[in-house]
Amino acid sequence: MCGIVGYTGERFASRILLDSLSRLEYRGYDSSGIALLTETNMQVIRARGKLRELSKKLEGEMTDARAGIGHTRWATHGVPSEKNAHPQLDPFGRVAVVHNGIIENWEDLRQQYGQGLFSSDTDTEVLAHMLVGGLDAGLDLVEAVQLILSKARGAYSFLAVDSQQPDRLVGARVGNAGGLVIGISEDESIVASDVSALLPYSQEFIFLESNEIVDIRPSVVEIFSSDGERKIRSPERLSLDPVTAAKGTYKHFMLKEIHEQPETLLNGMRGRYSGTSETIDLSSELNHERFSIENLKEINRCLIVGMGTSMHAAMIGRHYLEQFARIPTEVDNSAEFRYRRPLLDEKTLVISVTQSGETVDTLAAMEEAQRAGCPQITLSNSVGSQTTRLADSTIMLHAGPEIAVASTKTMIASVIALHGLSLFLGKQRGLLQPEVEQEQVHQALLLPAAVSNVLNFTDEIDKLAEKYSASNNFLFLGRGLGYPVALEGALKLKEVSYIHAEGYSAGEMKHGPIALIDDQMPTLAICTQGDVHDKMRSNIQQIRARGGAVIALVSEGDSSMDAIATDTLIVPDIDPILSPIPAVVALQLFSYGIATRRGADVDQPRNLAKTVTVE
Ligand code: G6P
Repeated sequence: MCGIVGYTGERFASRILLDSLSRLEYRGYDSSGIALLTETNMQVIRARGKLRELSKKLEGEMTDARAGIGHTRWATHGVPSEKNAHPQLDPFGRVAVVHNGIIENWEDLRQQYGQGLFSSDTDTEVLAHMLVGGLDAGLDLVEAVQLILSKARGAYSFLAVDSQQPDRLVGARVGNAGGLVIGISEDESIVASDVSALLPYSQEFIFLESNEIVDIRPSVVEIFSSDGERKIRSPERLSLDPVTAAKGTYKHFMLKEIHEQPETLLNGMRGRYSGTSETIDLSSELNHERFSIENLKEINRCLIVGMGTSMHAAMIGRHYLEQFARIPTEVDNSAEFRYRRPLLDEKTLVISVTQSGETVDTLAAMEEAQRAGCPQITLSNSVGSQTTRLADSTIMLHAGPEIAVASTKTMIASVIALHGLSLFLGKQRGLLQPEVEQEQVHQALLLPAAVSNVLNFTDEIDKLAEKYSASNNFLFLGRGLGYPVALEGALKLKEVSYIHAEGYSAGEMKHGPIALIDDQMPTLAICTQGDVHDKMRSNIQQIRARGGAVIALVSEGDSSMDAIATDTLIVPDIDPILSPIPAVVALQLFSYGIATRRGADVDQPRNLAKTVTVE
């Protein structure tokens, strides 16, 4: 989950590397570093803390360097500190390495290939020792990287430089611990963990596959297999917009992204939901052979995998798939799925939900499904990401860049994409009544306005946040579609404000959480679902009887909770099946309000990273 960058060309490397690193900081931000090369010298500068600490240290240093590598770290081996920051060097200071992922057998490798003393606690440093050992033994840089690939186990990617070949970078990728993308331009090459870091510099990219090595010079990029065989790869052209990634007038990216959600919904429905015919069509996005009407009729089970917020979106999607496509559907946490030897066959449709398209556990789950021959669809917000390369078809979320580490708009985009996919699959399987399709398309098109209404309530939600911002524990309860909303409400609060929050199914409350209830433990109860409304009322009464405060999240016009709840949080009254969307947006604002009052770093919460590429 670290971010790595490299540059070689005619321009000042330090500026370009720092700029690219700033676009990767969402991957990790506990320390950072850079190695800069001139014809005669290599300088390595590292700093603990965020990238600004490195920028300060770099001022005026090595301004003439035209090549280098950089890193922003999310610690796995060794505490965040200057000595554990990357680049890591060999004992003689000849080569420097930046690395993402985990070298599982690093301790053994240290014993076998150490070239002298180790100065850090990282698994990375041994790669520098191995490289220099290879070079000293007369290997070329690419051959020395081959040696590493043949010995180092795990899922990782890295970039390295040799101070004796100052315009050259080498890199490799093994497994799914984050990619390496090379941006191609005239007379310069730039490489990074993902494409977002390269947008201002290139529109043509080569995506390194697993077990590939890249040898980069200013105007030549060569790809090799791990056996050293040269591979021919044409760059792919992607036109993406770096400007939308800017924070604009918002205080935080999280707030900006929350406010973008009406547009996110529109973008997610554009070209899929037709307002004139009130029909749904995703045919252009699904691989026709794999998802022909005949094949879709054969599918007898759906499995949605994801992690974190994406898994909560998947839990909402399960209701849609069962209701509209009539396919028995399970949701699995990708990390658990892969280790329980799941029973899969080619009649199981596997849907992966992942904003980054790079989450290591979700990729591993997809590989498991691939081995079993399952048809696969991925929902991703990242063009060219790993999951889009593994799946048979991709449904892009079209949410635009999401910079804040805690997901907001990509969750809403995932939910609407699952809604659309379920309707479309139901229709193709001949199981969706045209009037249900019409009604659902009509209701979905009302969502952007409904979410705008929630955003208009920001002041009221903020007052609630003010009132509850001193609480150190929170319970979130919901039933049916309210359950994943409760889980997401708790997760968001936990992530951005560091408050201990538990999401529970309301039915489960009496089996444990009720023991925690007292006047110090407020509960947020999701009460927008008509069919479980009375049950939620009973839960609220039980909590109030034990002295707990309750904020009831209710639909506009529902006054039935006024007398029993301590406070109400009102969201627009829409079709109950779509109600998780405005409810989640209201809870995002609530968490944001509390987190900012507590002075938390909402965009980059401690210990978290936006893309989790390690297990
Ligand atoms: C991290 C992010 C979350 C995200 C989760 C899954 O934990 O901080 O916001 O929900 O990973 O990521 P994915 O990219 O697979 O959706």
